[in-house]
Amino acid sequence: MPAASADLPDAALRSALGEAGPLGSTVRQLAHRLRSDPARIAVALERLAGRSEIVRMGRGLWVLREFEELLGPDSGPTPDAVAEEFERVEGVPLGTYRRPITFAANHRRPIHRWWPYVQGFSAEFVRAVLESADLPAGAGVLDPFAGSGTTLVEARLLGHRALGVELLPPAVLAARVKTRFELSPRRLTDAYRRWIARARRRGPGRLPFLRETRRHFSAPTLDALIRLRDALPPPDRPEAEALRLLFGATLIPASRLHRSPCLGYRRHPVDGPDPFERIEAAVGAMTEDLAAIGPDRTRWGPPATVREGDARSAVLPKGRIDLAVTSPPYVNGMDYVMNYKLDLAWLGFATSYADLADLRRRQVACDNLPRSDPGLHGASRTDLDPWLPPILREIRRRVHRKGSYRRGDMDQVVQRYFADLVPVLENVRRSLRPRARWVVVVGDSLLAGTYVPGDLLLARLARSRGFRIVSVEVARVRRSGQRRSFALRESVVTLERADG
Ligand SMILES: C[S@@+](CC[C@H](N)C(=O)[O-])C[C@H]1O[C@@H](n2cnc3c(N)ncnc32)[C@H](O)[C@@H]1O
Repeated sequence: MPAASADLPDAALRSALGEAGPLGSTVRQLAHRLRSDPARIAVALERLAGRSEIVRMGRGLWVLREFEELLGPDSGPTPDAVAEEFERVEGVPLGTYRRPITFAANHRRPIHRWWPYVQGFSAEFVRAVLESADLPAGAGVLDPFAGSGTTLVEARLLGHRALGVELLPPAVLAARVKTRFELSPRRLTDAYRRWIARARRRGPGRLPFLRETRRHFSAPTLDALIRLRDALPPPDRPEAEALRLLFGATLIPASRLHRSPCLGYRRHPVDGPDPFERIEAAVGAMTEDLAAIGPDRTRWGPPATVREGDARSAVLPKGRIDLAVTSPPYVNGMDYVMNYKLDLAWLGFATSYADLADLRRRQVACDNLPRSDPGLHGASRTDLDPWLPPILREIRRRVHRKGSYRRGDMDQVVQRYFADLVPVLENVRRSLRPRARWVVVVGDSLLAGTYVPGDLLLARLARSRGFRIVSVEVARVRRSGQRRSFALRESVVTLERADG
C-alpha cells in the first residue's frame, strides 16, 4: 500500500538515489522502491533539486550531485577548445546562424502541421537556404534523411524537383502525403465521410501488438481508435493515404503519452477531444491548406519523389542534384523506432517486436541497437577521422570507471554512428553537381561524460571525402540530456562538392 499521505523524508530519497548510483532513477522507479506516490516523489525531488543536492540527467533520470560530478567531463577538451582546434586545422571559425531551425514554428504552418515531427527542422530555415542558393527553376533538391519531408515540401513549393530518402515508414508516408499538393479537397472530404460512417458502424477489433496498449489510452479512446483504424480505406489512393496520415497524427495527442522528444507517459494525463473530433479538425485543416496553396499551382515543381530506403545505399541520380539540405540523426542515441512505435504498430508498418528491431538495425546507429549487431563488435576503425579514436577511448574509460552505464559498448555505438555517415557522404557527393552545396543541420553530444563534437566530426569526415567545408554556424544552444548544466549546440554545416 503506497504511503501516499505520509511525509517522505529527504534522507530516504537520498538513500534510494545513492543505491541507484550514477545510473540514476526515475520518479516511477523511486515511487516503486519507496512505496510512495509518484506525485509526492516528484515534489520531494524538486525540493532536493532546489537545494542543488540532486540533478536531472535527462530521460527522466535523477542522480545525486556527487554522481553528476563523476559523469561530467573532468578531462578531455571542452567544446570551446575543440572549436579552436577545428579553426586552426580546418581554417573555418564557428559562426552564428540567426534563423530558427527547429520544427516548433511548423505546428502552425500550412501543410507542415499535418504531421508534427519533433525531429523535423523549420520550414522557414529550409526556405531561407533554398532562396539564398539562387537556384534555377526546376533545380534538383535532395534530402537523404527526408523525415517528414520539410525540405521536399519547400523545394516543390518553390518550383524545384525534390527527391528524398527516408527509412521510417510513418515519416515516408508523411513526406509523400505532404508533397501531393494536387490532392483534391473534395475527394478528401468525401473519403473522410465514408470512412467515419464505416467506423461508426464497426464492432470491436483486435489490439495492436504493443504490450502497453491498454495503458496508452483510456478505454473509450482505445475503442474509437480501433474502429477508426479498421475502417480506414485501403492505401491505394492519395486521399486514402492522407487519411491514414491524419489517423497516425491523432495517436499521441489522444493518448496518455507525450513525445518531448522521447516517448513517455504524461504526468497529468487528461482526456481531450475524442479521436473522431480530432480527426474532423485535422481533415478541416488539411482541406483548408490544400485550398490555400491551389492558386499557386503554376509555380510548383514536378511531383516530389520520396523513396523508402536507406540513405547509405540508396541509388541517387549521379551529378544531377543542385542542392542538398538535410538533418541526419544525431550522435545522441535518438531511437526513432521506439519513439514512433505507436505509429508503426497502429498503421501496420510493424506487426511484431522483431519488425521493430529489424527497422532499428537499418537506421543510423542509436544506442538501443541490439548488442548482437554485427556493426558493433568490430575492431577500432582507422579509416574514420583521427579525432575519433581518443574520443572512443575516453568513452570506454569512463564507462569502465563507472562500472555500469546504459550500455558497456557505447564507444562501439558511437563508432558505428560515424561509420554509418561515411557511405551517406559518399552517396550524396556523387549525386551533387560539381561545386553544388549540401547544408546539414547537426548537433554535438555528451556521452558517458565525454564530449563528442558531432557537427565538427561530420564536417571533417566530409572534407576527407571530397567536400570543402564552407562554414559551420551555431544555430542553437541546447542542454545535454545527460547533464543539464552542460551546454551543447546545433550547427548549420555548409559543405561544397570539392572537385570540378
Ligand atoms: C533529424 S531527422 C530528419 C527530419 C527532417 N529534416 C524533417 O524536417 O522532418 C533524421 C531522419 O533520418 C532517418 N533515418 C535514420 N537512419 C536512416 C537511414 N539509414 N536512411 C534513411 N533515413 C534514415 C530517421 O528516420 C529520421 O527521420
